[in-house]
Amino acid sequence: MPEKIVLAYSGGLDTSVAIRWLKEERGYDVVALTVDVGMDRSREELQSRAMAAGASRHVWQDAQETFIRHFAFPALLAGARYQGHYTLATALSRPLIAREMVAVARDEGASAVAHGCTGKGNDQVRLDVSVQALAPDLKVVAPLREWEMDRESEIAYAQEHAIPINVTKASPYSIDENLWGRSVETGVLEDPWVEPPTDVYAWTKSPAEAPNDPAYVEIGFDRGLPVSLDGETIDPVALVKRLNTLAGEHGVGRIDSVEDRLVGIKSREIYEAPAGITLLVAHEALESLTLSKEQRRLKARLAEEYAEVVYNGLWFSAHHRDLAAYIQSTQRHVTGTVRIKLHKGSAGAVGRKSPKSLYDFSLATYDKGDAFDRTAAVGFISIWGLPVRVQAQAQTPAENDDDALNP
Ligand code: ARG
Repeated sequence: MPEKIVLAYSGGLDTSVAIRWLKEERGYDVVALTVDVGMDRSREELQSRAMAAGASRHVWQDAQETFIRHFAFPALLAGARYQGHYTLATALSRPLIAREMVAVARDEGASAVAHGCTGKGNDQVRLDVSVQALAPDLKVVAPLREWEMDRESEIAYAQEHAIPINVTKASPYSIDENLWGRSVETGVLEDPWVEPPTDVYAWTKSPAEAPNDPAYVEIGFDRGLPVSLDGETIDPVALVKRLNTLAGEHGVGRIDSVEDRLVGIKSREIYEAPAGITLLVAHEALESLTLSKEQRRLKARLAEEYAEVVYNGLWFSAHHRDLAAYIQSTQRHVTGTVRIKLHKGSAGAVGRKSPKSLYDFSLATYDKGDAFDRTAAVGFISIWGLPVRVQAQAQTPAENDDDALNP
């Protein structure tokens, strides 16, 4: 009996060829696994393609809700954006896909798992490391790291072996998408000086062509988690889908950036994340009302750390667990509603309210009803400025010292 291998199957050229290659060149019995994190694919079509390519079985796992609840939303609570831009859609899906690969491998009694990642990207690291963390005994095979085929040879291999592929529909870009966002790379995008052609974008209107009238949406949060739109309670998947459509229609969510891959390469990346960007803006606006200055400061620092952890494939690590516990704890009072204005490519918070708000009108106002004790400000400033005064007197700069910063 041949050994079994579970291959993460997207239905594209790479993984379709990989099915046959694993079977013919490595002698495996191949179980193709598609983890649906919100991609626009037909289950029947993928199943028949996997079987025609040589799989002994195709497993389809609907993981949309798990993905949003347990992967995307925790990153939202953290405010995570890699290098200040990328909302991490692809990166967040990898640990979930790895977990499903391991689960199916156990069910099937497989000795190995496989994926279609190249040897130059981040995704191979995320999948390999996640599998190593969850099931160190499973072997990981990455055919694209092993075979010498380029795209042309893969197409030839597919034709030779009667593997159904859809080359005419093939895009000049490498695209990965799920509910949290769409990632596009390669082709003309590899020149960072070239503006992305319009065909790069699929989820967002060009801001110039977006409606002239803004749209408003009120997003309700319960302990940091988005739970309603315009007052109507809605499940996480439907909420994200609805915001992707609405914000995308207004040109919100386009990201054009050069990022630093884990493997040391700089790469030009285009992302679309209409719901992600809108929710991050709204969530931050609610935190501005409900968290203290110190909580906000530390959270902002940890957001960067959290994004690195996700980007670098360390989801199943103790470090991630500890960071997530802190972030979760900060959300106890992040409950309320934010009104977002979507207009020609921008999503801005224009209203926020919370039953747990720390905003005190009588302290903030410059009008009637001011309760702030201004006379106390003088004493406060005297003590706050004390060390600065002492140092300025004791360490006066030399006469001809033209240091612009004194002392
Ligand atoms: N650079 C992004 C990341 O590392 C996106 C990767 C997109 N993957 C793809 N197969 N197109 O998360």
